[in-house]
Amino acid sequence: MQAFRADLLDFTAPPGWGDTSAPGVRWRPDHWLLVGEDGRIAGVQAEAPPAGVPRHDHRGRLLMPGFIDTHVHSPQLGVMASYGTELLDWLHTYTFPAERAWADPAVATAGSALFLDALLAHGTTAAVVFPTVHKGSVDAIFTAAQARGMRLIAGKVLMDRHAPDGLRDDVAGAERDCIDLIQRWHGNGRCSYAVTVRFAPTSTPEQLAMAGALCRADTTLYMQTHVAENREEVRWVGELFPQARSYLDVYAQAGLLHPRAVLAHGIWLDAADRAALHDTGAQIAFCPSSNLFLGSGLFDWPAMAAAGVPVSVASDVGGGTSLNLPRTLADGYKVQALGGHNLTAWCALHAATRGAAQALQLDHEIGSLEPGRVADFCIWDWATGAVDGQRQQLARDLHERVFAWLLMADERHLVQTWVAGQARHTRTDG
Ligand code: GUN
Ligand code: ZN
Repeated sequence: MQAFRADLLDFTAPPGWGDTSAPGVRWRPDHWLLVGEDGRIAGVQAEAPPAGVPRHDHRGRLLMPGFIDTHVHSPQLGVMASYGTELLDWLHTYTFPAERAWADPAVATAGSALFLDALLAHGTTAAVVFPTVHKGSVDAIFTAAQARGMRLIAGKVLMDRHAPDGLRDDVAGAERDCIDLIQRWHGNGRCSYAVTVRFAPTSTPEQLAMAGALCRADTTLYMQTHVAENREEVRWVGELFPQARSYLDVYAQAGLLHPRAVLAHGIWLDAADRAALHDTGAQIAFCPSSNLFLGSGLFDWPAMAAAGVPVSVASDVGGGTSLNLPRTLADGYKVQALGGHNLTAWCALHAATRGAAQALQLDHEIGSLEPGRVADFCIWDWATGAVDGQRQQLARDLHERVFAWLLMADERHLVQTWVAGQARHTRTDG
């Protein structure tokens, strides 16, 4: 057993949209989090633990569940902040060349270690990850996740057309790779497999049908893809799939929408699409930093919420410009503000923790500080300088305080990251 003293914040229920009062918010200032030898949360208490239990005194700091990034690309750290393009040009100019290098297992192994260490150093303890089309990139990310004890969902990227040489597969070979990788990794420790369709333009209808058949054959598999991110992309999908009612309908017809489906973006969807997402149980990963950087558009979170579709938040690095989810959520606030809506700190942080865990059907394992959950958590400074320090002092209530932290914090506020009761990142620069 070990014990952590800090201001504990997590959620017991979804906060209502636009509601700054705190239903569902569990705020336990200056409490002790107890972590057992099994790496799970043993309890939370106000009183000091018994003598002999090792103590980590982070009084005056914030302790929250580790963040869950529901859409991020492991081979794209080197693509971040690439100048001057929208989605389709960005893919061809910057992203596909970077991903081609991951054909080399040594590149994939080193890149995956760098990537997961970076997630941990930005406050993220669990992620839904796109590696590359290469089978070795999947072995590399899962192997690196297991070395760090992390909860990770990933799968081989499917692309059998409209991609350059060295980045295309074919239906039969891709199916063999998927089956082999599912056997090796799905349910192996904290790893789960996601059938990973890059996006409709890079898969033939035959490949989409194969992906749908994999999902039908094992309903515990996840599915991840991109949808309706960019207007030119949406127009192209209409051309490639003239029989589909909409972009989302391409995936619906292939049997890819189900309760374990995570679709990134979903900016250019209509009411019928939102109803289809709701009816199938699929969820949207909102990627505000990426959507702003690539000029993709403004996601309408309240419309999605009103349709009953779960929304989580994601960095979408390399389209996004930071792996840090507080920075991403700050962008999310601004995107919603442009749509005339106020994103509360509670909605934002819930979506990055308990909300994502629930949508991924992993709330028994991650996303809260409930006893029995795996001890994946982060300790943050409330402020690191004079400006955010003063802002904290001026906050008049809990929402104002947490909101100011969320909008002003970044990875420099991160003191320590713990995964399954093990310290996996510690700030070194004071
Ligand atoms: N659509 C298809 N591939 C990608 C990708 O790598 N990043 C983003 N943001 N959108 C995509
Ligand atoms: Zn993406």
